[in-house]
Amino acid sequence: MSRLVVVSNRVAVIKRVRTGGEGGLAVAVMAAMRERGGLWFGWSGQVFEREPGPPDVFDHGPVTYALVDLSQQDYEQYYKGYANRTLWPLFHYRLDLTEFARPYFIGYQRVNQLFASKLLPLLEADDVIWVHDYHLIPMADQLRTAGCRQRIGFFLHIPWPSLDIFLALPNHREIVRALCAYDLVGFQTEADLRHFFEYIELEAGGGVYGDGRVEAFGRTLRAGAFPIGIDTADVAEFAENATGTAQYKRLEESLGERALMIGVDRLDYSKGLIQRMEAVEQLLQSYPGNRDKVITLQIAPRSRSDVPEYVDMRERLDSVVGRVNGTYADFDWMPIRYLTKGFTRRTLAGFFRIGRVGLVTPLRDGMNLVAKEYIAAQDPKDPGVLVLSRFAGAAEELTEAIMVNPYDIEGMADAMQTALHMPLKERRRRWSAMFHWLRQHDVAAWQRAFLDALTAESAGRSAKRRPVAVK
Ligand code: F6P
Repeated sequence: MSRLVVVSNRVAVIKRVRTGGEGGLAVAVMAAMRERGGLWFGWSGQVFEREPGPPDVFDHGPVTYALVDLSQQDYEQYYKGYANRTLWPLFHYRLDLTEFARPYFIGYQRVNQLFASKLLPLLEADDVIWVHDYHLIPMADQLRTAGCRQRIGFFLHIPWPSLDIFLALPNHREIVRALCAYDLVGFQTEADLRHFFEYIELEAGGGVYGDGRVEAFGRTLRAGAFPIGIDTADVAEFAENATGTAQYKRLEESLGERALMIGVDRLDYSKGLIQRMEAVEQLLQSYPGNRDKVITLQIAPRSRSDVPEYVDMRERLDSVVGRVNGTYADFDWMPIRYLTKGFTRRTLAGFFRIGRVGLVTPLRDGMNLVAKEYIAAQDPKDPGVLVLSRFAGAAEELTEAIMVNPYDIEGMADAMQTALHMPLKERRRRWSAMFHWLRQHDVAAWQRAFLDALTAESAGRSAKRRPVAVK
């Protein structure tokens, strides 16, 4: 079997305690790497004034890590700038928050070139290279230019936006041209794939074929939808084992007879946290019977705290939570418990199991693994109910959730009310359909599907079942 080389901006070193703030990439890639081992290359998380030296290479368990530092300028232009102030908001449909600045794009290209030059000497002839996420779209192009002949696949963890949104990116052509240097490009959902195909056909004048083959910019590649999974069995086991732990008992005791609604998200404007808190407010206003009966626990570890849009959003969220609690709290009941600290995934699995309702209501999300973890963590005899945004990638798979439009505050409040009062039989029916799906489509299946497609002649299962090209 060929060695797997994973390349991602954020690298999760196995020994580090995980806190829930890492995002889906780290969680899923870690699970995949634990199974198969290999080389994981990326940013060390360190920033220095000086130019970075050679990668820090070390082994941990089955994984060899190769980590590169960033200079202050690269961090500003590539990570904070092009990745998180241009691509992130644009790909999440937030044109209002998107910053276009040429130095950002120059920094983005420079760091991709730097990463390619540092990775190249570490590669072996029959490696299979798997690049992850929007920070590193130009990696394959840079590696090819430097002479790399290995198979290279790319997986996008965030949404690929619809054509009209994507065309607002001044460098859209360079980005897609670079993407076409991969052998296989994977998206989270069929909708993302469709948007990409639309670009190829309508903007790039390329061809899209029924087997997932794409011809554009003088290159032939394959593209498919590969919805990312979780380690379903592990999460279910964590949750079952958590019931004996001190934190589980403390949370349970603190609730008394009250029902818990739980949300766990990186503190990010794409997660719809302000709208979610407004919906809790609406719930208490429209359905006063829930006052003193329901507690919402929102865990939101801080993220990208030095990007200005995140600072603004946090201030607005603080004020909404303060308003709701100030309006409705009593001396012995607080409607919203809002925490920015993180917890381990084991602890979170226990908290999910206590939650009568799981709130996953992003304005836009590539997949959202919390939705899947919430389902996996439930007690089969008495499962909770997932309230899920139709704009999360997970909505294509978790169709038995209560689906909401996160912009519709009153609709979300109604959905919370329905979820809180759903009869056991109905809860079980919905939960078992989703749990069954998640057992079949776990993270190991995701990794297999993508790597089989990358190493096979054809683009494999997902690409094959694509309908013929978008017209
Ligand atoms: O899952 C999407 C993602 O952007 C990952 O690429 C990233 O590692 C994670 O969210 C957390 O973001 P950051 O690495 O910027 O802290």
